[in-house]
Amino acid sequence: MKNFRSIKGTHDILPEDSYKWRHLESIVHQVCAQFGYQEIRTPIFEQNKLFSRSVGEDSDIVTKEMYSWEDKENSFLTLRPELTAPVARAYNQHNLGNLSPIHRFYYIGPLFRRERPQKGRQRQFHQFGIEAFGSNFAEQDAEIIALAWHLLTHFRLTNKIDLQVNSIGTSECRAGYRDALKQFLKPHFDELSEISKRRFNTNPLRILDSKNKKEQTILKNGPRISDYYTKDDKEHFNEVKTYLKAMNIPFTINSGLVRGLDYYTKTVFEITSNELGSQDALLGGGRYDSLVETLGGKPTPGIGFAAGIERILLLINEENFKEHKPVPDIYLICLEKEGIPASLSIAKQLRLKGLNIVSDPIRRSMKAQMRDANKLRARYVLILGESELNDNTIILKNLESGKQESIKQEKIVKYFDNLTN
Ligand code: HAM
Repeated sequence: MKNFRSIKGTHDILPEDSYKWRHLESIVHQVCAQFGYQEIRTPIFEQNKLFSRSVGEDSDIVTKEMYSWEDKENSFLTLRPELTAPVARAYNQHNLGNLSPIHRFYYIGPLFRRERPQKGRQRQFHQFGIEAFGSNFAEQDAEIIALAWHLLTHFRLTNKIDLQVNSIGTSECRAGYRDALKQFLKPHFDELSEISKRRFNTNPLRILDSKNKKEQTILKNGPRISDYYTKDDKEHFNEVKTYLKAMNIPFTINSGLVRGLDYYTKTVFEITSNELGSQDALLGGGRYDSLVETLGGKPTPGIGFAAGIERILLLINEENFKEHKPVPDIYLICLEKEGIPASLSIAKQLRLKGLNIVSDPIRRSMKAQMRDANKLRARYVLILGESELNDNTIILKNLESGKQESIKQEKIVKYFDNLTN
């Protein structure tokens, strides 16, 4: 029979890596608390329409990447490909806007997109992200970006990353710009790729996102969205830039940055790293001032970002994790079957004191167990051999200093009490 394997584009996170995930997640919890963001957990699957309405009928995600199925009673469901729409859905469903004028959330969890797998691109991947509802002021944009920057600073990544920002204006601005862009591209229509030809009709702004060299050259002489900003768009974007400068957060303006999801308005941004290869986006986000209303709620501005956890982990230097690898305080070696009840009882009492105890459940030799203790980088070993059993003692060895002593069994718990206090 063929062995089972994980599904293409999905990965197991084994113990050799899972502690790194846990450490990263603990820093996310810590940093989000520092900024006053609270955790939200939403279901893994949602109604299909939630995503087509918000992310956009014509987006890559909705046209080709969603895992969707028809459930009973003709409901059409989808494994979440992103979390902004589910969080906005929850915000509406629980009428959170009535409780407080602002709500700031963060989340950590798995997402699903049927993309072609490659380094840094999976079909099940994980994001942490934040979403802030209720403010249309630029200091909220600055806070969102500052949180991303703070977190990446913690992992000493700021010299490996670039922050790019842009404003795609309000819908009023985009309507004018869309017409001008179409007017400009019309004479070049035959030179466009198939996908851009399609986007010419459905969502011409997405053509700006094109990686096609020829299209990029054509676009160089095209109209700029900044020429179509309303007074408010211009002011808002200027304020965002001023506030980022005030915090010494370096950024570049990328007028071609439009992002592939339809809900964005005004500020959009991405943090990329050229150490990541072709999948270089570490995180992306922006303002979505109409999303809550599109999903049936009261008009409420919002802004957020999401970061790919796998991609961040690819960038973080191993050194950052070294001291976070879990190690046992004590490796307990019992060499006699008759000693097992005593060793189990000692382990139980020590664990109640909060110590981490590992023991060998396959009755290996002293040498093999010592090797295991060293491999796990245990701080102490406790050895219960034949003579210790006979005189109710236990040997305590400090693996760092190599010092060894014999202690009465009934005193061992007290001994560690003194050590840990
Ligand atoms: P996104 O740009 O689609 O935005 O995804 C955000 C990040 O998730 C990317 O920058 C990347 O690091 C990671 N990512 C995306 N797809 C994959 C994949 N297939 N494999 C591995 N990592 C991936 C959003 O999802 C928006 N909801 C962000 C947002 C929040 N905008 C406002 N609020």
